[in-house]
Amino acid sequence: MPASHLNQIIAALPLRRGAPEPLFRQLYAAIKAAILDGGMSPGMQLPPTREFCRLLAVSRQTVLNAYALLTAEGYLDGAVGRGTFVSGDVPLPVPATSTPGLLRPLSARGQGVVAAMRQVAIHRGPLRAFRVGMPRIDHFPFDVWNRLEARRWRRPDHQFGYSDPAGFLPLRELLCVYLKAARGVHCTPQQIVITSGSQQALFLLSTILLAPGDAAWMESPGYRGASGPLRAAGARVFPVPVDAQGLDVAYGVAHCPQAKLAYVTPSHQMPLGVSMSLPRRLALLAWAAQHKAWLVEDDYDSEYRYTGAPLASLQSLDRAGCVVYVGTLSKVLFPGLRLGYMVAPPALAEALVQAKAVMDRHTAIVPQMALADFIAEGHFGRHIRRTRDSNAERRDLLLRGIARELDDQLACGPADSGLELCAYFRQAPAHDEEVVSRAGVERGIELRPLGHYADPDASPACAVPPGLLLGFAAIPPAEIQHGLLELGRILRGR
Ligand SMILES: Cc1ncc(COP(=O)(O)O)c(C=O)c1O
Repeated sequence: MPASHLNQIIAALPLRRGAPEPLFRQLYAAIKAAILDGGMSPGMQLPPTREFCRLLAVSRQTVLNAYALLTAEGYLDGAVGRGTFVSGDVPLPVPATSTPGLLRPLSARGQGVVAAMRQVAIHRGPLRAFRVGMPRIDHFPFDVWNRLEARRWRRPDHQFGYSDPAGFLPLRELLCVYLKAARGVHCTPQQIVITSGSQQALFLLSTILLAPGDAAWMESPGYRGASGPLRAAGARVFPVPVDAQGLDVAYGVAHCPQAKLAYVTPSHQMPLGVSMSLPRRLALLAWAAQHKAWLVEDDYDSEYRYTGAPLASLQSLDRAGCVVYVGTLSKVLFPGLRLGYMVAPPALAEALVQAKAVMDRHTAIVPQMALADFIAEGHFGRHIRRTRDSNAERRDLLLRGIARELDDQLACGPADSGLELCAYFRQAPAHDEEVVSRAGVERGIELRPLGHYADPDASPACAVPPGLLLGFAAIPPAEIQHGLLELGRILRGR
């Protein structure tokens, strides 16, 4: 190569004096980039270090350090007295495309996973009325949690290495006792697998229980966080209507009896808020036992029941070993913790533990330890009681506000549990959910249309009247009042 060309390359090396990155690192990166994009070709001789440092106006040590690093990584060859060359082993550069994009299409399975769940952008950012799915975070005793975690960090033990994929044993033991007392769940710690939120449990269950093309019943309207994993697993999601008694089991049996799995929220249907009646529960269990179908019971917010005793879980009625109970700490503590669990029939538990290990080995150990201490020392029970009272107050405020100011506009669904309230438009079809929701965004409030939970492919039997899901638990009273005011203006077209 002519010296003039080399000088041009050297002159173009982008060195930024005074930048935080040392000059030798910059020189190393610049030469490496020039080699990889073909500006410096294999066999080309680099200037001797003395000359190079003069050309670049840097110290000789800078050049020596850069050469040493490039030689160690195989980009340069050199020997004392012979000179320094671009290595002959460096592969020929790959021509860069003018618009860098995806190297090749995603696999069919990858495309299925990516398309499985549409995310909702209005659901992020600072908390506003009437954000759904959020517990009251400012009630959480962060000081206590901080102390419990710090205590664990001060005493690292062997469990800080790789630990049991099923989760921290003392936590599973405590959950076992809690679930028995609070939800009537029958299990041993060996049946519990700790997961990263219930989302991971739903993904693992869909992946290992269903083959592509298998039919799975899904409540319609229903939770997208559950239909997403079913679709990602290649399942054929079969929407089953929900009425005042919960999932319409007879409809599912009549139209899709061969399904391999059914996803249900029997304690508090998401989003309509109804609880599944006992006859429906028994019919569902009978169908599952007869057809050897799995029932995935998502018991996401049953701790928050404001009137009457908590309802027993579906799992507590299961005699055939077909129910997998899924729980989460996202509602009872907070979602960013990413802690959940599943309780599997004994014969399925080991397979789920193996699948969990394949996915991420195990959930982070210290939050599991802190949660175990949080439960064992009574903070968990106290937090639930305190938060239940606060949620009930906010629920009452919302209900009273609607009754006082929006009674002609909205009819409320069941309000005896959970963190949100379903409200139907009385003036439908005058009000379009999407239009109302967009108007809410413009006025700084979040109004989740019920249509968000609808399956576009569902039969007309799954249709629900138009309305909104209004979160209340995380919303301060003044914000609830403000939200109601804005909602009233939107509905009255002011
Ligand atoms: C029906 C249902 N299940 C589970 C969850 C919680 O999911 P995760 O545990 O992944 O945070 C939610 C959250 O909104 C939900 O609505």
